Amino acid sequence: MDLLPLFLEMRHRPCLVVGGGATAARKVSTLLRAGATVTVIAPELAPELVRRVQAGELVHQARPFMTEDIQGQRLIIAATNDRAVNRRIAELAQAADIPVNVVDDPESCTFILPSIVDRSPVTVAISSGKTSPVLARLLRTRLEALIPAGYGRLAELSGRYRDRVKERFQEPAFRRRFWDRVLQGAVAERVLAGQMQEAEALIEQELAPDALERDIGEVYLVGAGPGDPDLITFRALRLMQQADVVVYDRLVATPILNMTRRDAQRIYVGKQRNHHALRQEEINRLLVDLAKDGHRVLRLKGGDPFIFGRGGEEIDTLAAEGIPFQVIPGITAASGCAAYAGIPLTHRDYAQSVIFVTGHLKDGTIDLNWPALAQPHQTVVFYMGLAGLPIIVERLMAHGVPPDMPIALVQQGTTHLQKVYTGTLATIWDQVAADPPIPPTLLIVGEVVRLRDKLNWYQPPDEPVHGATTEILGSES
Ligand SMILES: C[S@@+](CC[C@H](N)C(=O)[O-])C[C@H]1O[C@@H](n2cnc3c(N)ncnc32)[C@H](O)[C@@H]1O
Repeated sequence: MDLLPLFLEMRHRPCLVVGGGATAARKVSTLLRAGATVTVIAPELAPELVRRVQAGELVHQARPFMTEDIQGQRLIIAATNDRAVNRRIAELAQAADIPVNVVDDPESCTFILPSIVDRSPVTVAISSGKTSPVLARLLRTRLEALIPAGYGRLAELSGRYRDRVKERFQEPAFRRRFWDRVLQGAVAERVLAGQMQEAEALIEQELAPDALERDIGEVYLVGAGPGDPDLITFRALRLMQQADVVVYDRLVATPILNMTRRDAQRIYVGKQRNHHALRQEEINRLLVDLAKDGHRVLRLKGGDPFIFGRGGEEIDTLAAEGIPFQVIPGITAASGCAAYAGIPLTHRDYAQSVIFVTGHLKDGTIDLNWPALAQPHQTVVFYMGLAGLPIIVERLMAHGVPPDMPIALVQQGTTHLQKVYTGTLATIWDQVAADPPIPPTLLIVGEVVRLRDKLNWYQPPDEPVHGATTEILGSES
């Protein structure tokens, strides 16, 4: 380790910044966030610094640097655009044993300001040991994505309970176990979801004398998106790595399943057209039972759980049984397939609205409001429409949609097996019959389909990008 990482108390401590440009402004901003008392010496100031002076946040002396300026300072930053001046400041500061940072001159620095992920009071500082500030910034971006915004609240809550927990669990090992439970379990989830009252109620339960025997289960109803693992949300990923049981169905792509915790128990519950591994009521019951046994259950569903996903029914049962749950949206097949096929679902010139419907066949028919679906200037997306395609085409045309209306059929959208058939209502069935698609498939009907000729951008890779097969073996469609 070339440099010693430290977190310094700078509240109300005097700090000097020499220079008034954009770089100086960034450094000033960091010092002010840490509560330092900042003096800036520079003949002129960047607009951001002028605003800060006007707001009374710092003292400005509009003149060049003088030797005696370093007196009484706890920390100095040399950020002028004159290298010689910066060097002189560094020499003076070093002679007086005052930590100094010199912009763009690592040799002259006795400390550096790291890249920061700020989840105050939690702060992550990253240094590349003066070698590559850009690399440190890149790492910071990655960590920003990984550390939920609510971690500050979690730290603040932990701080408030620290003494009580110490009192309640005298044994350090018990205390550690308690904090593990709180910081990785239902309490943390409540905090990250912004539900502070519920979080405190749970922590109080955990502190109750009989808490060790009681376990609080929870269900995360998570949308896994249409197939490409890069399309899941940060929150989904975090919960996927936290849950100890995964209940998933057929539309969840293998690489996404592989992103769940390695030691998690995995339960497959279907569903394929006319072939359900478990009936819906049995799935609802299973979730309740698992949660009651104290498990953190990930209910992973393709696309978005609230769009043709029966997610509502599952949480209805959970709510009735008093099981805590949260719902994490996913990218629904319509959005994923349309984006990856280069077909905007709405467009000022072609479609002012979009309708999502299910083309699921029941007793050989599809019960839909066909006159509404046949209106012009709209896009209609059919989920589960492959088997009923001839009926869909026939019904639309019977209600006045012209036979040359464009239609796209997207097979396994967003995956390496994506294939897009485009044609018209009059031609699509012959195209599909000549080269049967592999489900799942989605139908997009409307003038917007024409835009694909110009906007098609996605070239499916030859093989899955994420290792294991991306095949989302067909389901209803
Ligand atoms: C039971 S619905 C579930 C929809 C899901 N909840 C969603 O929001 O996308 C299943 C249907 O979604 C469509 N679907 C899901 N993923 C798809 C994909 N990657 N490509 C094409 N269609 C897909 C198909 O029409 C499939 O039959």
